[in-house]
Amino acid sequence: MASPPTQALGFPAVWLRHNCACPDCRDPVTGQRLVEITQISNGPWATVTAEFADSIEVTFAPDGHRSVFSRAWLAASALPDADADADADGDARTEDGKVLWRAASLGAGPAEGLSLTELATVPAADWAAYLADDVARVSVLDAVARYGAGLLRGVPAADGMVTAVAETFGYVRETNYGRIFDVRVVADPANLAFTSRAIAPHTDNPYRDPAPTLQLLHCLRDASAGGDTVLVDGFAAAAALRACDPVSFGVLTGTSIPFSYVDKETSLTACQPLIALNPRGRIAGVRLNDRSMQPVRLPYAEAEAVYAAYRVWSAMIAQPEFALGLRLAPGDCLIFDNTRILHARTAFAPGPGSGSGERHLQGCYADLDGLLSTLAVLRRA
Ligand code: FE2
Repeated sequence: MASPPTQALGFPAVWLRHNCACPDCRDPVTGQRLVEITQISNGPWATVTAEFADSIEVTFAPDGHRSVFSRAWLAASALPDADADADADGDARTEDGKVLWRAASLGAGPAEGLSLTELATVPAADWAAYLADDVARVSVLDAVARYGAGLLRGVPAADGMVTAVAETFGYVRETNYGRIFDVRVVADPANLAFTSRAIAPHTDNPYRDPAPTLQLLHCLRDASAGGDTVLVDGFAAAAALRACDPVSFGVLTGTSIPFSYVDKETSLTACQPLIALNPRGRIAGVRLNDRSMQPVRLPYAEAEAVYAAYRVWSAMIAQPEFALGLRLAPGDCLIFDNTRILHARTAFAPGPGSGSGERHLQGCYADLDGLLSTLAVLRRA
């Protein structure tokens, strides 16, 4: 008998059997699978038993089960070649699904040899258009998915509006800070964010597991001077580190770093690498926050190597070519990927009156899965 003909289709027989869409294998209402992998004979044998203009019938041994696959679906599901682009697995969550960027108007630097888009500013849309027009909505959500950040202008500068923005595409991620948090100067700050000091590029809540994957910052009042927001594409910087210092890159991707946050009601800790890779070794996440990083407890030589790599990584992030500066005006709401984009702010002049600066941002957390779901549904429509 001939060799299993499903090889000619480019799919293992078990793959086809597991993805059969007939009513015995998939619930017709939900589309969810009814057959379990352990119910499929080990090494099912399959032959093409009929060919039609737009579909193919496959019959499996030993149970004689018959499946019909559309040619279009098979073409869209084609398996990649073993030797072509072996590192990429189409995971849109990683660098492979992103447009890596550095700030435009700044020259080439250590990222030489990498293909990076030059971004002059964060893709933006007007709030009214975003609410009224799916095309505008898709453009902002797509910017968050691919560039890591999107900006809405003209969001009413009112208390709590930031959660209304999050609810247009997903769900507010409530934390010990509440549904929203206020970023402004306070008299007795528990966090440097609540002072007028400069804050270095960081991701939020690295001491949380999982960390919130999205952050929103809504400007209610801006500072008279300073207080600019700076964004860094952490994936672009990590790719640059990999290119110019693979040893440091290997140390950082292979070492879990402890972070913690403690106050009277809270004691949060998480231990994760500063640069996370997916199983294929593709850049999948960054977390960095010097304010909440804890002592690394590793054997002497390893600890020394971690701090050396951390220094190189921090210097890479601080390269001006990666720093995209933008000044949030009242009504601006920035949405960004907290697993990719590092955010910073410049120092600013405290406002009049003791202890209460005029600059006031309101923030909340949300998650990328909800945003990506909303984007996919809008695209389907
Ligand atoms: Fe922050």
